[in-house]
Amino acid sequence: MDKMIIHGGAPLKGAVTVSGSKNATLPILMASLLTDEPCTIRNVPRLRDVNTALALLRGLGVQSEWTGDHALAIHAEHVISHEAPYELVKTMRASFFVLGPLLARVRRAKVSTPGGCAIGARPVNLHIIGIRALGARVQLRGGYVEAHADQLRGARIWLDAPSVGATENIMMAAVLADGKTTIENAAREPEVQDLAKFLVAMGANVRGAGTHVVEIEGVERLHGADHEMIPDRIEAGSLMVAAAITGGDVSIRNVPVDQLEAVIVKLRETGVSVIAADGGVRVTGGGALRPVELRTLPYPGFPTDLQAQMMALLTQANGTSVITETIFENRFMHALELMRMGADIVMKGPTAVVRGVPRLQGAPVMATDLRASMGLILAGLSAENHTEIGRVYHLDRGYEALDAKLSSLGARIERLKDSAPA
Ligand code: UD1
Repeated sequence: MDKMIIHGGAPLKGAVTVSGSKNATLPILMASLLTDEPCTIRNVPRLRDVNTALALLRGLGVQSEWTGDHALAIHAEHVISHEAPYELVKTMRASFFVLGPLLARVRRAKVSTPGGCAIGARPVNLHIIGIRALGARVQLRGGYVEAHADQLRGARIWLDAPSVGATENIMMAAVLADGKTTIENAAREPEVQDLAKFLVAMGANVRGAGTHVVEIEGVERLHGADHEMIPDRIEAGSLMVAAAITGGDVSIRNVPVDQLEAVIVKLRETGVSVIAADGGVRVTGGGALRPVELRTLPYPGFPTDLQAQMMALLTQANGTSVITETIFENRFMHALELMRMGADIVMKGPTAVVRGVPRLQGAPVMATDLRASMGLILAGLSAENHTEIGRVYHLDRGYEALDAKLSSLGARIERLKDSAPA
């Protein structure tokens, strides 16, 4: 397994471009199952999770081919299987997104449940409540969700929590259902909006994505579509923190500024300068950092996927910050690793109290999940001496060409092959 060595202390300087959004891409790839016509998806990030999604789709009979660096031709002419095996779902929870499209297209699906993961229980009950409401019969057997429906029928569905994945799965099941579906308390995340845009381009009738109520009028069939992925707001936010934590000066291009308001507000509260211009931002750090209080919340609140990165930054503030994680239980694994680097953090339930220290020190640390690993990289970039991050494969799931991007800004990063098992 790869390790990453970061020699900290270099202020990042220069310009960097944000890639396409991972979390928007994954459901859109699954949605290609909804038509027997070819689709083209552009600005697709080259990531391990995207490869996993394509492998899963290949097993179902979906053909895909890169037709450019980031352009993908994808064609589900014949669906030959309706099963998403455990081996793939366990490596990527988003594999569960095939449930809705498979049910809609071939009327049956057998999808492994994702099981536990490093950031808490993450159940799929809301996905199942949703497809049951649409008339699917669902059984849980041998670790698999087995669902079938001769004809899905539109329904009114109220989500207990505004789950991104459940909203997306239900939308994809409902587009070919008979009649009208209303999802209340739907997730409002930009990725949900992007999926709706793709579905509409395929001929679906979806209204209200981006609000709490999504309405879907089922249609008979969908056709091929051409779609360009939105930029990755989490990568953009992570790069913003990279500039801030190193006291650097970085121009970040292709930033979905409107989607990052909560993050920009918090960064400015710490004293970091964020100036938006020409579809990008210029982030300048270097002054004393002020502590802040923040809570992760569903969109448009502060994203949980940037909590670890922000915690890394706040270890460097002049004073005490309070971070409350309201989306996932057990999403402070990175805090324990940051403490190994000299951070002063006390955790109580969903709250972490972060007392700023003058300088973190490099240490061997272990990445536990995708976003936590980014938090550790950011800490390493600002730390004294060198930081050695193990299990860095988590990172390749979700950040395109990160080493190259950070190195181009002056970061000193190397990868080492490690023969030890994961
Ligand atoms: C998506 C993102 C992930 C992000 C998360 C929250 C993708 C591929 N992943 O994950 O990066 O961190 O949104 O913004 O887009 N819940 C239930 N029952 C369910 C489903 C969810 O109780 O059936 C709970 C979860 O445990 C969690 C909350 O709802 O507490 C939000 O989860 P959800 O929005 O579903 O996250 P994902 O779609 O898995």
